[in-house]
Amino acid sequence: MFDKSSSMGFIGAGKVGGTLAITLANAGYSVKGVANRTYSSAEELAARIDGCAAHPSYQGLIDACEVVFITTSDGAIGQIAAAGEWRRGQGVVHCSGAASLDVLDKPSRSGAVPGAFHPFQAFSSVENGVKSIPGITFGIEGDGEMRTYLGEMAREIGANPIFLNAEDKALYHLSGVLMGNLLTCLAAVAAQVWEKFDYDRADGVKALVPMMRAVANNLETSGIPDAVAGPYPRGDVGTVRKHLEVLKARFPEILPMYSELALAGLPYAIEKGLDQSTADEISDLINGFKT
Ligand SMILES: NC(=O)c1ccc[n+]([C@@H]2O[C@H](COP(=O)([O-])OP(=O)(O)OC[C@H]3O[C@@H](n4cnc5c(N)ncnc54)[C@H](OP(=O)(O)O)[C@@H]3O)[C@@H](O)[C@H]2O)c1
Repeated sequence: MFDKSSSMGFIGAGKVGGTLAITLANAGYSVKGVANRTYSSAEELAARIDGCAAHPSYQGLIDACEVVFITTSDGAIGQIAAAGEWRRGQGVVHCSGAASLDVLDKPSRSGAVPGAFHPFQAFSSVENGVKSIPGITFGIEGDGEMRTYLGEMAREIGANPIFLNAEDKALYHLSGVLMGNLLTCLAAVAAQVWEKFDYDRADGVKALVPMMRAVANNLETSGIPDAVAGPYPRGDVGTVRKHLEVLKARFPEILPMYSELALAGLPYAIEKGLDQSTADEISDLINGFKT
């Protein structure tokens, strides 16, 4: 049975490997080894954790640890798993949101116990990553003792475990991409609008970020649909018409995006109390501008 005292090692000393190795060591897990394609990064990470050694070879780390996290870029996980010699009963875990457990096929066939431990968070550095772990969600795959071990691991570092089936992993991952990646793109487009009235997008970012924080806070405190605000739940057809007209005249490139987002959001406006006939009027108006 894996537990907090099981010796752990990380292959991959990047943002996620570094964040998890340090966070888990701080939480009392027995982080004993790090290996990395660029050896100096393994040495740097190992030096930050008491009792942790840098391994010059992946196999040396696999041999030394009971649980091995492969925290390389997604494309390398399967290659590293396939190249290693694994023991029966050993744990092997990756942190990809896109890959499922099939990339760990070789260790599984050798009797190792596979798992996935995906942090539902965007990491830009190890330092910020370590601070950002409490309160986040980890998407976990694995059976039996691996499921129990990884669920407990998430809770031990102040995070929230959820358990996934392989067929749901892509849906789960795209939800994170909508938020972590495409929300940033939406913010970039919203900032770009400021260039249409003689400010630049940095001014737009300055104005939009406090609003993004308030939106996140409203979502956390009020949930959906109460956090959904603006002209749609108000049923403000005239304002929506003005938006569509000005986009058509001055920023037609984003008219389709605005229209699709508005239509996708209408059900939440209805849930919040918008009457069906006004919702239909808004929907017809938007669809009229789409054609
Ligand atoms: N970043 C995020 O926001 C985020 C969020 C959730 C999950 N994840 C997942 O976490 C895992 C690691 O991502 P990351 O953001 O930590 O990446 P990262 O900071 O870019 O680090 C990538 C690591 O993979 C190693 N690597 C890259 N290509 C390799 C190859 N061909 N062979 C061997 N090692 C290779 C790098 O070694 P070198 O030091 O030699 O370059 C480095 O240690 C991925 O599965 C990713 O999907 C990332």
